Amino acid sequence: MGGTALITGVTGQDGAYLCALLLAKGYRVHGLARRCSASNTGRLEGLLGPLEAVERLELHAGDLTDGAGLIRLIARTRPDEVYNLGAQSHVRASFDTPEITAEVDALGCVRLLEAVRTVGLSGATRFYQASTSELFGAAAASPQTEDTPFRPRSPYGAAKLHAYWAVVGHREAYGLHASNGILFNHESPLRGQAFVTRKITRAVAAAAVGEAAPLRLGNLDARRDWGDAREYVEGMWRMLQQPAGGDYVLATGRAASVRDFASHAFGAGGLPLRWEGEGDGERGICRRTGRVLVASDPTLRRPAEVDHLIGDASKAARVLGWSARVTWEALCEEMVRADLAALGTGHVGRRRAA
Ligand code: NAP
Ligand code: GDD
Repeated sequence: MGGTALITGVTGQDGAYLCALLLAKGYRVHGLARRCSASNTGRLEGLLGPLEAVERLELHAGDLTDGAGLIRLIARTRPDEVYNLGAQSHVRASFDTPEITAEVDALGCVRLLEAVRTVGLSGATRFYQASTSELFGAAAASPQTEDTPFRPRSPYGAAKLHAYWAVVGHREAYGLHASNGILFNHESPLRGQAFVTRKITRAVAAAAVGEAAPLRLGNLDARRDWGDAREYVEGMWRMLQQPAGGDYVLATGRAASVRDFASHAFGAGGLPLRWEGEGDGERGICRRTGRVLVASDPTLRRPAEVDHLIGDASKAARVLGWSARVTWEALCEEMVRADLAALGTGHVGRRRAA
């Protein structure tokens, strides 16, 4: 097995796991990575070791806002499979930076598709686009499937909607084998620290070693369908192994609230919570010590919220043979253990999570 793959966003959570998966399958992997003043390859090194020693992996400095560079990269690497994972991926941040979010998440995808077409590879290359359950936004139906109407609620969701249709357009106009993975939230110990699950599991570890400040959270009522990123990158790969491109929901079919996730995480860290108060006055208090461990912070609420996402991945099960196995509870416990271990207190999490 194996071929040549190009991954944008290779330094991110999904990019790192997908890179490791494709290398294990025998692929030659090219990764587009931004030039940064500080290293951004920590996730890749954590999974693969020193990158100079990794055979069949080559990183290329570049950016999804640089169209000519993308054309040169496609022409030079001539990938069998392109995975477009690069994005300004933080929903809250997209309200503060709507223009750069659109540049990268909408036009970046268009540039990459056009680079494939310009180089003359529309009939040869297979294209994966990191679409998202944020497309559903204020969803009209629950659970959401490939047929649920899109109603994005953020600049991020709107930019990803543009990219979604650009992918469909290249499939229909130019015959490109192009697929949208409409992925619901997926997490791991490599999850970015600004996303709510990782923010919580890092706070559990900090509280376990005596950090006094409570964790401040925004909307505790929001519900998400959280799965395991490692399973989801396998689903991406399966989409590109089909005879034709298509659009697929990947989800677990179970949802929980931010409050549920926080309760489970603090419990797994040996700090069981009880909740007091309502709305902006709600607090999570340690049942054992009475310490306030979580405080509601209205400044962390979003200008427009997506209240409830839950996906139906029946099509992926039927066509791809893919379904999620890891529960959000097991994933939460693993993330807590990893963050405790990073602070040298792994024993607390291991005992509690067992
Ligand atoms: P992530 O950890 O935030 O990674 C994003 C990646 O994009 C990073 O490698 C980042 O580079 C890169 N990037 C940002 N701006 C770029 C630019 N201008 N040019 C080139 N690369 C750029 O995100 P993730 O969780 O792995 O998600 C991967 C993709 O799936 C994203 O497109 C995201 O929107 C989408 N998605 C994620 C989820 C989820 O729950 N994780 C669900 C649905 C869809 P740096 O390392 O230099 O910052
Ligand atoms: N980040 C964050 N920080 N979110 C908080 C906080 C907080 O302090 N407090 C409450 N939340 C709520 C958010 O309002 C949201 O309803 C929920 O927690 C999840 O927020 P995130 O973890 O930031 O993820 P997201 O659902 O907005 O977006 C992620 O999933 C999308 C797929 O549905 C990202 O990975 C997107 O890139 C992805 O497309």
